[in-house]
Amino acid sequence: MTISVKHLNFFYGTTQALFDINLVAEDGDTVVLLGPSGAGKSTLIRTFNLLEIPQTGELSIANNTFDLSVAKADTKKIRQLRQDVGMVFQQYNLWPHLTVIENLIEAPVKVLGISKEIAKQEAFELLKRLRLEEFGDRYPLHLSGGQQQRVAIARALMMKPQVLLFDEPTAALDPEITAQIVSIIQELQQTGITQIIVTHEVSVAKKVATKVVYMEQGHIIEMGDASRFDHPQTEQFKQYLSHSE
Ligand SMILES: Nc1ncnc2c1ncn2[C@@H]1O[C@H](COP(=O)(O)OP(=O)(O)OP(=O)(O)O)[C@@H](O)[C@H]1O
Ligand SMILES: [Mg+2]
Repeated sequence: MTISVKHLNFFYGTTQALFDINLVAEDGDTVVLLGPSGAGKSTLIRTFNLLEIPQTGELSIANNTFDLSVAKADTKKIRQLRQDVGMVFQQYNLWPHLTVIENLIEAPVKVLGISKEIAKQEAFELLKRLRLEEFGDRYPLHLSGGQQQRVAIARALMMKPQVLLFDEPTAALDPEITAQIVSIIQELQQTGITQIIVTHEVSVAKKVATKVVYMEQGHIIEMGDASRFDHPQTEQFKQYLSHSE
């Protein structure tokens, strides 16, 4: 299994934000995290590559295992984890002073030590796959939000991650661009990569999820396969779905 999280607890200072989180995902799963604002979705997804480090619990993801109750994660292990587990942020986080191609090859060249030539070739292939080939020499600020989001996905894919994390990948995008992002996620499903996606959009969630996790106030309230959208088992998830129609 690609992801196994056991008894994970996370605190911001003295405030507990995640309570005894347990979940598993298999290779090729697309897990959607849903829940109201403040439920802890972003916090949880950020623990998956240890951008937030839980105080207790076990995290095993793409063969990187951390027993956080016993020892602090060391930086070398965290670096390896972040190579295997890529993240796409809502705000894209592209380097503004670098062109699209330069954004894509930065980490593979610097972190993986791949030659510039080979990295550029891989970057061109990815841009083609994401229908961005004409934008390689542009700067991020000269691209639309949807184009920047696709570049951010391409940049994460350059590291050939086994797991890809998305925090609200379609927030602030119009329906047509959202549909493009959804189809990229569906294409990635064919490659066997495991994806974790935080979203507010139940319609997006339904199109891609193999598993759904519903959270409130730092707790997992309901978790199951995609049939839960039609057959929620808790009153809370049922309520949430009925408000999002
Ligand atoms: N850096 C921080 N310091 C202290 N508390 C934080 C911090 N970030 C988030 N929190 C708190 O942790 C809880 C979970 O926040 P989180 O951002 O994970 O929620 P979310 O489900 O992603 O919400 P949204 O849908 O609005 O993005 C909230 O109560 C929030 O106020
Ligand atoms: Mg959030």
